[in-house]
Amino acid sequence: MTRTALIIDCDPGVDDAIALFLAFASPDDLELIAITTVAGNVGAPLTARNARIIRQIAGREDVPVYVGAQVPLVRAPIIASHFHGDSGLGDLAVFAPVAPDAAGHAVTAIIKAVMTRPPGAVSIAVTGPMTNLALALRLEPAIAHRLGTVVVMGGARTEGGNITASAEYNIYADPHAAQVVFASGCKVVTLGLDATHQVRATPKRVAAVRAIDTPAARATYDLLKFSEGVQRRFAGALAPPMHDPCTIAWLLAPDLFTTRPVDLRVEVAADLTMGHTAVEFRLADPAAASVHWVTQVNAGAVFDLMLERLAR
Ligand code: RIB
Ligand code: CA
Repeated sequence: MTRTALIIDCDPGVDDAIALFLAFASPDDLELIAITTVAGNVGAPLTARNARIIRQIAGREDVPVYVGAQVPLVRAPIIASHFHGDSGLGDLAVFAPVAPDAAGHAVTAIIKAVMTRPPGAVSIAVTGPMTNLALALRLEPAIAHRLGTVVVMGGARTEGGNITASAEYNIYADPHAAQVVFASGCKVVTLGLDATHQVRATPKRVAAVRAIDTPAARATYDLLKFSEGVQRRFAGALAPPMHDPCTIAWLLAPDLFTTRPVDLRVEVAADLTMGHTAVEFRLADPAAASVHWVTQVNAGAVFDLMLERLAR
């Protein structure tokens, strides 16, 4: 597999953190150009600090962390600390990371990376609200057709919403940004709740993580135990879904996922259904679609991949 030059735009966030561990442990597959952070699960200062904490635990201070948008494009910030804890990293022991964030804004870093490398060379995984990518597309529209693949965790079709009855959090938090990204012409692979709810950290899988004695696996175990508790409180006994790690797993092993071309529109006006993703499978010209929707995931193989990387 050729190495993918990748930017990860995230709002750590418990599952963002596990996605970062997976990416940091895959240097032969992923050339991590930058981590960019955004306001989301918790406020922007915390998501930036949390990305640096995870980077330090993984020993990957070679990867710069750029701080991005402090608020969504239009809406007021909506945090999800009930899912991620006040720190954003569950009850993981947080600390002041040694290595600072990089100079310059995340949006500038995204544009520079894409415009200075060959067309199609840079891909981006977006695991939080899409504010940074939307701003980059507005500042430099040329990146829409110069980016490689944009892999996003967001949206819902058959699963319904997880923050409201009809909306998934990442889209709900900044629906205007999502609308910009999906309408931009970027090649987008979309992992909605329909996909990520198939990949759950069952007790057996959590026990397998516990058996791995590496800093990333120990931190991941703590994060998963926190998420188990949240899941019990909010959704009964169901095992926590591995939302954001699916974006990195898709980049590492796309054959574990089934996708289909779609027309994806975002509700940005109606209060009741704000952030809803209308995912249309009936297309006049499927080959012309720039957006693809993940319908099936080989969850066992995805988790095996996660375990193998956490053990590195
Ligand atoms: O709906 C799940 C998404 O919202 C994940 O990215 C999680 O981290 C939160 O940001
Ligand atoms: Ca996230």
